[in-house]
Amino acid sequence: MNALVLTDIGKQHHGTPPVVALRSVTMTVGYGEFVAVIGPSGSGKSTLLAIAGTLERPTTGVVEVAGEPAGRISDRGLSAIRAGRIGFVFQQFFLIPAMSALENVACGLLYRGVPAGERRRAAGAALERVGLADRAQHRPGQLSGGECQRVAIARALIGEPAIILADEPTGNLDSAAGAGIVELLAGLNSAGATIVLVTHNSELAAAASRIVSLRDGAVIADSGAKTPHSNAKTPPGGTKTARSGAKTPSCDADGQEGGHV
Ligand SMILES: Nc1ncnc2c1ncn2[C@@H]1O[C@H](COP(=O)(O)OP(=O)(O)OP(=O)(O)O)[C@@H](O)[C@H]1O
Ligand SMILES: [Mg+2]
Repeated sequence: MNALVLTDIGKQHHGTPPVVALRSVTMTVGYGEFVAVIGPSGSGKSTLLAIAGTLERPTTGVVEVAGEPAGRISDRGLSAIRAGRIGFVFQQFFLIPAMSALENVACGLLYRGVPAGERRRAAGAALERVGLADRAQHRPGQLSGGECQRVAIARALIGEPAIILADEPTGNLDSAAGAGIVELLAGLNSAGATIVLVTHNSELAAAASRIVSLRDGAVIADSGAKTPHSNAKTPPGGTKTARSGAKTPSCDADGQEGGHV
């Protein structure tokens, strides 16, 4: 089974004239791959990532996440898939300023029905993984850009998603901090996570084992899948979704979903 299968994806935005963001994109991402998506501004990279992560639905074509065709799943079902399988990291971090790093990371488990104490414990462990155990009580305003992005990555990985989708996670960072973030993603990939990284920076893209180039909404080059790591994370025994009946815990984070930063 593959982590992501996109078949003949088209995306058109309404408007006069309508904007074609993607045209007939087909790509398969196997478990354990580290794929960089590159291309000029407006070429459709963010759109592709949003569709791959089921945040947006395509106009045409089929998206399968972990073997499940997303088109047949309700919005609620897709939220559960995202909460259970996908971690998002975005350029702007999207951390909650009034919360500590630990609380921000713990929010990544909100939609998983995990009790508060366990969320905090897991958040501490996730911060340790990104090298920020000693900043747990700091608020985003007290952290550097690179540290904020590490917190956002910790929030994305706290639920141990099989797939991490990162849209320009280094765009707001200086080159040293950006390289550190890519190194961190490469480490997560070595530990088994499937990573799709959107970046403008071809030097950073070189850390990936596969590079997909977009132009005008179409794939113009794909260096092809390399052999995935043998310890690639596959979902343990079928569908892993949010516990049914689990209460939606309260959080100041309006609209923040598990693993969605
Ligand atoms: N909601 C929207 N409504 C209309 N057009 C949109 C919308 N979102 C994206 N587009 C258009 O779709 C095209 C692809 O946009 P997208 O954001 O995917 O590009 P990108 O490759 O991520 O660019 P960048 O590198 O600047 O982030 C662009 O022409 C953009 O203007
Ligand atoms: Mg973009």
